[in-house]
Amino acid sequence: MQGRFITFEGGEGTGKSNHSALVVEKLKSLGISVKQSREPGGSPGAEIIRHVLLSGAAQPFGPDAEAILFAAARDDHLKLVIRPALERGQWVVCDRFVDSTRVYQGIVGQVAPPVIRALERIVVAQTMPDLTFMLDLPANVGLQRALERRGKSKADRFEQETLTYHETLRQGFRAVATVESERCVIIDTMAPMQEVADRIWRIVQDRLLPAQNSPKPSPQVKDAAS
Ligand code: TYD
Repeated sequence: MQGRFITFEGGEGTGKSNHSALVVEKLKSLGISVKQSREPGGSPGAEIIRHVLLSGAAQPFGPDAEAILFAAARDDHLKLVIRPALERGQWVVCDRFVDSTRVYQGIVGQVAPPVIRALERIVVAQTMPDLTFMLDLPANVGLQRALERRGKSKADRFEQETLTYHETLRQGFRAVATVESERCVIIDTMAPMQEVADRIWRIVQDRLLPAQNSPKPSPQVKDAAS
């Protein structure tokens, strides 16, 4: 059976990697085989492109070129890691995916929608996530959390942008989630970590583990049916 594909999206410091790791642990505790990954990156070739993008080396070429590079990294990641895992029946949990390109390059970077759509059609095609969590925080809180996590290491090309940029990102993720509300769930991460983790896990159970949640038929029901 084909595995399920879950992505975590949102601005800086919203807790994507913590919450994706918690979902991975929970799935493993149920005996489900899970591949945890991230973008940009996730395959050796895509990790090289990640370095080019996050160092800012591609920035002078403009948002179109950055969008194409994110797509090239995603293509490699999908071909070498994500699709083979799903085909083996593994679940894939990924930090960032196509919605990050839609928001960072499309909405904020103003790459034309037909370009973003064309890249998706070529690269992602049918491999859209089954479920996407959009982790949501006011931009100033997220940036503060990202700063604390980073410590003394240097801010990457995107973290260096202004507060207005990050607030626009937040609105962008919310807008994508509203349009694709079947797939996307906005999660307020101002709440205590455990509360947020419990909410996320309940949604995974409800949406992707239906068999486990449905009540077992009682003996009477079984008798009546036979
Ligand atoms: P990373 O350190 O992985 O950030 P985070 O911890 O916030 O997930 O850096 C990834 C950066 O790349 C992040 O600032 C968002 C950006 N990005 C894009 O602009 N477009 C994309 O398609 C992806 C996947 C990421």
